[in-house]
Parts: sequence; structure tokens; C-alpha cells
Amino acid sequence: MENNQNIKWHKQSVTKLDRQKANNHKSFVIWFTGLSGSGKSTIANVLEVELFKQGVQTFCLDGDNIRHGLNENLGFTDQDRKENIRRIAEVAKLFVNAGVVVLVSVISPFSEDRNEARKLLGNDEFFEVYVKCPLEVCEKRDPKGLYKKAKAGHIKQFTGISQRYEQPTNPELTLDTSKLSVNESVTTLLSYLKKHLERN
Ligand code: PPS
Repeated sequence: MENNQNIKWHKQSVTKLDRQKANNHKSFVIWFTGLSGSGKSTIANVLEVELFKQGVQTFCLDGDNIRHGLNENLGFTDQDRKENIRRIAEVAKLFVNAGVVVLVSVISPFSEDRNEARKLLGNDEFFEVYVKCPLEVCEKRDPKGLYKKAKAGHIKQFTGISQRYEQPTNPELTLDTSKLSVNESVTTLLSYLKKHLERN
């Protein structure tokens, strides 16, 4: 873009490392991806409570919530989902630079968009967690009644029904929520994160 030539990066004196030292832990993104109703937000929420109790600086970025504000102008076309993920990844990066552990829960159905988010954050600061759950189980749970509406044709481009979900091929962690309880998933995450939280 032409304008960008006139915009220069302004280096800041307090660095990410300074902030991580002050917090006494590293900062990174835990990116929960999965179908609607798979349990992404529920797990992220309980995990945050546990990390918070341990004194970890955390913040949850939840797709539904962010669509109420920053992304209120976006719908569910491929293009809008891409932009949704791009903005959330950029915001997550700001939080990581602020020394915070960010829990992102978004369907993020397309591999390409998740890979872009990974590229932006880097492999050391991006952990993809596939919240796996068979579509039939999500449909049965249907906590918001959205599958029922989608199947009746009242919601277009609904993930799993009228739009695709591309499963992660190489996530850092997979949690099968049709087999694990919320607490079991959170325990698995806490033990995975332990070594990643530690500063060198
Ligand atoms: S995405 O795909 O990552 O851009 O979606 P996300 O920002 O996570 O928003 C998903 C939530 O929006 C509600 N909703 C829909 N989901 C999927 N497809 C369609 N068409 C749709 N319309 C509304 C739904 O509550 C999703 O939340 P979760 O928590 O996943 O159920």
C-alpha cells in the first residue's frame, strides 16, 4: 500500500522479554480450534481460572465475544472468516508482546488461515489445540440451538452443516471431548503448558 511507505516502525523501550521477566513466565497463544459445540470456550475458560490461580497473566479471546465488537462487521463467508482470524491473530500477538498468555477460541475452520496465524506468532509462541468432537455429538449437544436452525436452513454457511471444517493435521495437542471430561482436558493442558511457561 502506498501509504505504508510513510509509516515507520517505532521501537519501544520496554520489551516483551522485560514484561515476561516481570510476570515470571513466558507469553504465547493457545489456539483452540474445533466445531461449534466442541467445547473450545468451556475448556479455555476453566483453563484460564486454573492459570489465573497460579498467578499467570492470561486473557481469553473468544470468537463469539469478539464478533460483538472488533469483528461485528464480519459474517461467515470464507473471506470474512479469514479476516476474522487475521484480526484475532494480530490482537493475540499484541497480548503476547504485552507478556500475556492468550487463550484464543475460534472455530477457525480453514487450515490456511490457522497457518497464517501460526506464521504471524511463530512456532515457539503458537500452540494449536484441536478440540475434536464428532459432528453428531456436537449436533446432539447443540447448546445454542444453532445446529437445529442450520439444518432447517435458517443459518447459511454453518460450519459442519453447510460449510467445511478442515481438521488440523499437526496440532500440538488434540483433546477428544467426546471421551474426556472438561477437567481431564484441562489437566492435560496444564501439564503440557508447564514447561512452556517457564522462563530460561
Ligand atoms: S470462525 O469460523 O472462526 O470465523 O468463527 P468464530 O469467530 O469462532 O464464531 C463462531 C461462533 O459464531 C456462531 N455462529 C456460527 N458459527 C459457525 N457458522 C455459522 N454460520 C455461524 N453463525 C453463528 C456460533 O455461536 C459460533 O460459536 P461456537 O462457540 O463455536 O459455538
